[in-house]
Order: sequence, then structure tokens, then C-alpha cells
Amino acid sequence: KALCNDFDFIQFIKFLDTVDSTNSEAKRIAMEEQVLEGLIVSSEQTKGKGRLGRQWESEKESGLWMSLLLRPKVKPEAASSITLVSAAAMAHAIEACTSLNVGIKWPNDLIVNGKKICGILTEMSAEINQLHYIVLGIGVNLGQMSFPVDIIDKATSLKKEGVEVSGKKILSAFLLAFSNFYSQYLEGDMSQIISYHLAHSVTVGKKVQIITPIETRNAYVLDINADGSLLVENELGENEVVFSGEVSVRGI
Ligand code: ATP
Ligand code: BTN
Repeated sequence: KALCNDFDFIQFIKFLDTVDSTNSEAKRIAMEEQVLEGLIVSSEQTKGKGRLGRQWESEKESGLWMSLLLRPKVKPEAASSITLVSAAAMAHAIEACTSLNVGIKWPNDLIVNGKKICGILTEMSAEINQLHYIVLGIGVNLGQMSFPVDIIDKATSLKKEGVEVSGKKILSAFLLAFSNFYSQYLEGDMSQIISYHLAHSVTVGKKVQIITPIETRNAYVLDINADGSLLVENELGENEVVFSGEVSVRGI
């Protein structure tokens, strides 16, 4: 049952000690229960998933590993901008609970002192013109003091940045911020969400590399569009729009 009107997108909360991936668990629930929306949180993930098929380090009690199962009544093409909604909400939550400055690397990474503290993996099930569900997976590094060598220069945690704050505190601040931004998103109003991104962006105004499965191109980032896509100037001096999908942005 809905907790209250502000959180009517949460009909259940499932806390687990361990799971393969909270995103996978959310998808299993989505397929069993056709209308349910809710939240899954786990202390540990044995098969945490990152974007583009990567692995996500999610040791026991080292982070906030969670997934929201959502069924917004929006068109499938509007679904991916929910990544921006959650990135803004989590950046706000971390800043509200700590004294850290949080940057947003478009579209889905939160950055503290140049390193990644939070990643977001959005998955969805849809047909042409019909969205079945969205799984919004969010991982916040809380307590790690070290990372595997391959990501040691790229990853950080709140503890590494000198802050000790519980996952519960971050989660409740996130849910408050998310419910606010999410209701704007449902009304089709992305303006505050985009403004939040622009104010915190570590991508806009930078020379970056746009990496797609087929090529890597240099570009200069001009803006974030109203639909959440990225406006860049390519090497030929032409304006181009980049959609999040399979793209990685490097060079911040
Ligand atoms: P994206 O494609 O999402 O933009 P990226 O490859 O540009 O990601 P980076 O921030 O440059 O991401 O590098 C971080 C790398 O470390 C990613 O491959 C990410 O999946 C991986 N990683 C795995 N676990 C963690 C973790 N707990 N915290 C931060 N990064 C992690
Ligand atoms: C990325 O930046 O590559 C996305 C990382 C997303 C990690 C979170 S942790 C909770 C949820 N469950 C997963 O398996 N992945 C997401």
C-alpha cells in the first residue's frame, strides 16, 4: 500500500542481505506482479551490474545498492530521461547529507573530487508505444576505503572523501528529492531537472570523447536539451544531438 501521497510510487520496500543484483530482482518482481511499483535495497550484490555490460563492485555494507521498479504512464521514448531525474535527486541527497560538492557527468554518473561516487543503470521493458516498466538501479559508494586496481583512479566513496553517513540517511533524502522531481517528470516538466543538471554538470562546456559501439569522436559539449539529450559541437563545427543509450562520455 502507498506510504503516503508523496511516495505513491512505493507500494513495497524489500530489504535484502544479499542478492545477485537489485536490478535483476526488480525485473523478476516486475514479471510476477503486473502492476506493482516499489523499492529493493540490498546490503550486498554478488553480480552487481554497471552500464554497457560492466561489473559493478558492490561488497557487503559498503554502499547503498538499490533499484526502484516504476511504471510511469509515459511514452517509451520519454523513459530514458528518468535517469536524469534520479541523478539530480541523488546529487541533491548527497549534498543535503554531507558538505561535499557533487558533479553530474551526463547522463548518469555522480562525481566527487573528479571520481565516481554513484552510478545509475536504467533498464526497461517496452513495446512500440507501450512502456511496461522501468528499473532504476542506483549504486552509491559509502564505506569502501579501497577499490580494485583497474578502477582505483576512477572510483571514490563517501568515506574516502572523509564523510561517514548511513545508507538510510542518503536513502530518505533521495526519496524526498526524487518524489519531487519525479512528479515534475510525470507532468512532462523537465525544466527544474535540467536546470539542476546544468548547475552541477561536469560535462557541459568541456571537450569530451563520445564513445559509441562503432566509433570514438571528439566533441565540445554545448548544452543539455529539454528532453535530456546532449547538444554537442562535432569536429566539423556542426551541432549534433547525443542520446544516452550506448554512449560513454570521457574526458572530464
Ligand atoms: P559510463 O559509461 O557510465 O559513463 P565510464 O566507463 O565512463 O562509465 P568511469 O567513471 O570512467 O565510467 O569509470 C568507472 C568504471 O568503474 C566503470 O566501468 C564502472 O562500471 C566501474 N565500477 C565498478 N564498480 C564501481 C563502483 N562501485 N564505483 C565506481 N565505479 C565502479
Ligand atoms: C554504472 O555507472 O555503470 C551504473 C552502475 C549501477 C549500479 C547499481 S547498484 C544497484 C543496481 N543494481 C545493479 O546491479 N546495478 C545498479
